[in-house]
Amino acid sequence: MLIISNMNPRFFVGSLPIEGDLILAPMRGYSDLPYRSICRTMGSAMSYAPFIGATEILTKDHEACLALGYLPEERPVVFQIYDDNEERLLAAARQIQRYNPDVIDINMGCSIRGISGRGAGAGLLRDVDKVGKIIKRLTSRLNVPISAKIRLGWTLQSKNYRDIARMIEDQGGAFIAVHARTRDQGYQGDADWDAIAEIKATVRFPVIGNGDVKCVEDIDQISTYTGCDAIMIGRAAIGNPWIFERRNRKDVPLEEVASILHLHLDRMIDFYGLNWGMLRFRKHLAAYLKPMKLPKCTRDALLTCSNRSHLNALLQNIGLKTPEGITAS
Ligand SMILES: Cc1cc2nc3c(=O)[nH]c(=O)nc-3n(C[C@H](O)[C@H](O)[C@H](O)COP(=O)(O)O)c2cc1C
Repeated sequence: MLIISNMNPRFFVGSLPIEGDLILAPMRGYSDLPYRSICRTMGSAMSYAPFIGATEILTKDHEACLALGYLPEERPVVFQIYDDNEERLLAAARQIQRYNPDVIDINMGCSIRGISGRGAGAGLLRDVDKVGKIIKRLTSRLNVPISAKIRLGWTLQSKNYRDIARMIEDQGGAFIAVHARTRDQGYQGDADWDAIAEIKATVRFPVIGNGDVKCVEDIDQISTYTGCDAIMIGRAAIGNPWIFERRNRKDVPLEEVASILHLHLDRMIDFYGLNWGMLRFRKHLAAYLKPMKLPKCTRDALLTCSNRSHLNALLQNIGLKTPEGITAS
């Protein structure tokens, strides 16, 4: 198939071009269809759905089903799953393959005790051979490219990222994303960009660098420093989808904030329904409002409001007027 594009792909997943070097990180509770689709329009090059447990998929858990919803324009779409068991991962991957993702990613980075402690997520990093078996099994049984999102190892003393990355590549993985911390670091300490550079120099498949990209200036720094093929941005993208346009939030005029904020809220309500959508939007709203340094009482009123028209009025009072064409639900 001839692919016509006006952008130079950063890398390919099989024959699929990845156009753009910035990618919204999978973040459970945040990177759902409403937010992903906005970030994708603003320049995020792929849409990673948040992690879902293999068991959640196999039992058709409601949250899991929601996490698998995506818009056609979000493609390339990555579904991410976790488990410690090869058979369950394969069974779950087979199920979600029916929804036609472009990639299925195995989570090897989740540090949550209940997940990593039982050998899933970052727990897999303790056993390089097991990582190899999982990747081999999935790549040989499925028709969709398999990738992995890793950390640097289980502890600072047992970093094994080079072996893990090589193993994933050797067993047929399409690419990796690297959150440059170990499991025991959680989110503490600085991300180790040297390790991303080492991985990039060790493997030939694409490497997505992740960790501590907080502003536009960091994008160029991590890119130059590590040579990674693309950059994944998590926390700094919450309340700031403009980072995918390479704009820091302080440079975004209030009218633009208003326009995206209301669009985001609309999409949340369309996707989750009025009550649940408004409720789930609150943590995004908190992030949009944070740089505005509002008095506590104003902030509290905004973050507890459950009526759309009332919320619109409160937002208007702080300069975030509903744009033309958007009506209160
Ligand atoms: C609230 C939250 C939820 C997350 N959920 C996921 C997830 O579902 N899958 C995953 O691989 N990583 C998850 N992560 C980790 C991020 O993808 C990313 O690796 C991490 O935040 C470091 O990047 P950052 O410094 O740009 O935030 C999550 C992180 C946060 C803060």
